[in-house]
This record gives sequence, structure tokens and C-alpha cells, in this order.
Amino acid sequence: MRKLLPGLYSIDMELIKTKQELNEKIIQLRNENKTIGFVPTMGALHQGHLSLVEAAGKQCDEVVVSIFVNPSQFNDPGDLERYPRDLDKDMNLLKNTACELLFAPSVEEVYPETDERVFDFGALDKVMEGEHRPGHFNGVAQVVSRLFEMVKPDKAFFGQKDFQQLAIVREMERQLNSGIEIVACPIVREADGLAMSSRNMLLTKKHRKSAPLIAKTLKESCNFVPFKNIAEIKAFVIGSINGDENLGVEYFDVVDGNTLQPVDRWEDSSYIVGCIAVFAGKIRLIDNIIYKNPGK
Ligand code: PAJ
Repeated sequence: MRKLLPGLYSIDMELIKTKQELNEKIIQLRNENKTIGFVPTMGALHQGHLSLVEAAGKQCDEVVVSIFVNPSQFNDPGDLERYPRDLDKDMNLLKNTACELLFAPSVEEVYPETDERVFDFGALDKVMEGEHRPGHFNGVAQVVSRLFEMVKPDKAFFGQKDFQQLAIVREMERQLNSGIEIVACPIVREADGLAMSSRNMLLTKKHRKSAPLIAKTLKESCNFVPFKNIAEIKAFVIGSINGDENLGVEYFDVVDGNTLQPVDRWEDSSYIVGCIAVFAGKIRLIDNIIYKNPGK
């Protein structure tokens, strides 16, 4: 890594597009006894992604970032088509960060033939995103496992914004047992509270204006714990967000933070999280809030 001062890096990041080139670089880093941190992304980078790169830079000698819009995890073709792509802008954002290698492969490079693997995540992917986006997490597992094989990192960094994805990746890693440490990083938000997301830039003006109500409502709902019961909290959150004509709640579930199964009472688990998906026009936004955390 080309660290100049704490948090300041030089800009000679390398762009790599093929598995073979990547493999050569990884072998070189391994020969130099470097530890590798990996941040998989789909591009359209923002400060949320960059916070993962920063965490990886702190914990590992070298950081590999991937940008790949993975077709197999999109259950909605319109969503895949709309997904923002701007490699030049992303490269500019990654300069002066801890990112040493940027891996931006083509679809053919990642999937020379279709991936037919079907993962079994038990009950983990039967709820929330898994229920509303059939096949989504199987696609995530297909691409993350392939990228893990290519990058062979020591640690991989994922955001808590995609709370269920993090649980799925942990379970996938447990099943594949490749010895990669999965590191969770906190949600980065806009000044108005909206969780940063590549999809935010697709919001129309009026939807962007309404969107912060999601985080604001989740935060407010925290004040009611444990005085209101879970059914009341759910009614409050859904009612408040649906009260804005530009927003429509797809689901709001209060779940056990490990099993992701719904909980009915605060006493039922020591780790309780509220997870939400909201349509703002055509754009689907997700967010979550930790109501009860055994670590805190
Ligand atoms: P993407 O949506 O680009 O997100 C890449 C990583 O950035 C994920 O780990 C996500 O949780 C994290 N992230 C996104 N917004 C964040 C925020 N506001 N704060 C903190 N972290 C944030 O998630 C994916 O891509 C894909 O499913 C992927 C894992 C790359 C597989 O294709």
C-alpha cells in the first residue's frame, strides 16, 4: 500500500479486467507476504463504499475493490438496466484511497458459462429481501463466492446497510469454509439521514425529498422501545412512511439479528433489528435499525 500519511494514499491504483491478470497480482502480493482486504461492489460508488475501503485499508496491507454489476442477482430486468454505471467516476473516487487494485471484469470473465449452483440458506433467505426478490441471494452467493475464489482475500468487508446480505454472506462463508473473515461495517448516511445507496441518484426530486422520512421514522421508533410492543412499532413505522404520498412500504419486519426470523416480543431475543424496504416511485430503498444489540 502506498500510504503517505494516515488516511492519505498515492494515486497509482491499478485497473484490472481479467481473472488471469488478477491472479498474477494476487500471487505477487502473497509472495510479498501481504494481507489482502477485499471490498466487492457494483460500482456507482459513494461514501458508504469508501468507508469499507477505508476499513479494509486499516486492517489489511493491500485492498482489492471489485466493480461488477452482477446480472444473476437482479430479479427485475428493469432494475438491472437502470443500475448506474460510470467506471471513470468510480476510478476517480478510488484514487487517494487505500485501494491498490480495482478489478472490473466483464460478465463473460466472471461467468464463462451460466452458474447453475443453488445454495441452501435454510430460513435465512426465505424472509424480507429473499421473499420479495426471488433468486436474489442465490445470485449474490454465486458472484461473491466466485470473487472470493479469484481474489483469495484474508478479510472481506460488507456494509450493514444490506443487513440480510451480510447474514447470507456469513452463512455462505461458513458453508464454503474458505477461511475468509467477514467484516461488518456501519451504515453511512447522507446529512439528512438517508442511507447512502447507488440507487439514490435515480430518485426523482420529489422522491429524494421524501426519502429521508424512512431513516427519520426508524430512528424515532427506537424511542418507543420497550414501551410500545413490536406490533405497535410496526404499525407506527408503516403508518408514518405510508403517510407520505411519495413512499410505499413493501415490508417492515422486526427480526432476530442472527436468524432473521420475525420476533413478536422484545424479550424473545437479545439481538433485534428492524428491516425495511420502501418504494419511492420506481426505486426500491432498503434500510434498517438495531433495536437491541447484545454487543452494546
Ligand atoms: P453494492 O450495493 O455496490 O454494495 C457494495 C457494498 O457496499 C455492500 O457490502 C453494501 O452493504 C455496502 N454499502 C452500500 N451502501 C452502504 C452504506 N450506505 N453504508 C455502508 N455500506 C454500504 O451489495 C452489493 O453491491 C452486491 O450485492 C455485491 C455484494 C457486490 C455482490 O454483487
